[in-house]
Amino acid sequence: MRIHAVDHPLVAHKLSTLRDERTDSPTFRRLADELVTLLAYEATRDVRIDAVEIRTPVAATTGVRLSHPRPLVVPILRAGLGMLDGMVRLLPTAEVGFLGMIRDEETLQASTYANRMPDDLSGRQAYVLDPMLATGGTLVAAIDELIRRGADDVTAICLLAAPEGVRLMERELEGAPVTVVTASIDERLNEHGYIVPGLGDAGDRMYG
Ligand code: PRP
Repeated sequence: MRIHAVDHPLVAHKLSTLRDERTDSPTFRRLADELVTLLAYEATRDVRIDAVEIRTPVAATTGVRLSHPRPLVVPILRAGLGMLDGMVRLLPTAEVGFLGMIRDEETLQASTYANRMPDDLSGRQAYVLDPMLATGGTLVAAIDELIRRGADDVTAICLLAAPEGVRLMERELEGAPVTVVTASIDERLNEHGYIVPGLGDAGDRMYG
């Protein structure tokens, strides 16, 4: 597994406003959307492409197009839904699958309540969207499911990550074809499983 924390002033600027407790829901959703597009630019660096011959008004040349099969984008409900538009803006032809997952507030264990994805993901590239990588339980379960169905390259895009979650992913997904792209690896998790300093509960701030 590989982790990539994007170091860019525009990313840092948008993330700072997202973190601010005074930022209201409409602004939070808009900024999350913008931030995802910036992160997606980095996350799609290895998206699979084929060479194609094209003709400009001036000459013939070689260009590229996205390979088949199309990439799969999987937002993890609820909060990941707020990242979908920003992602498909860059990958408009992507197929979209859905995973609904909830973390128990006491035990911090993740469970799946909705799963609407293609059965066979053999040879597919997949992009998982979840704003928060906290304990890592949610993402590990989601990525395990994608790999079990055959995905052979998975990139998770998270607005924020905690070191504890990164460590769990490194342990559980060692050697797996997985990349995590995030705007920041924060300090730690608190006793309630919230990322510190973090931005609070992304789902509540988007939809609460
Ligand atoms: C939050 C967040 C992640 C998960 C991260 O979702 O959006 O999906 O927790 O936690 P973990 O890394 O410790 O597993 P939540 O369960 O609050 O659901 P929501 O998106 O519906 O608000």
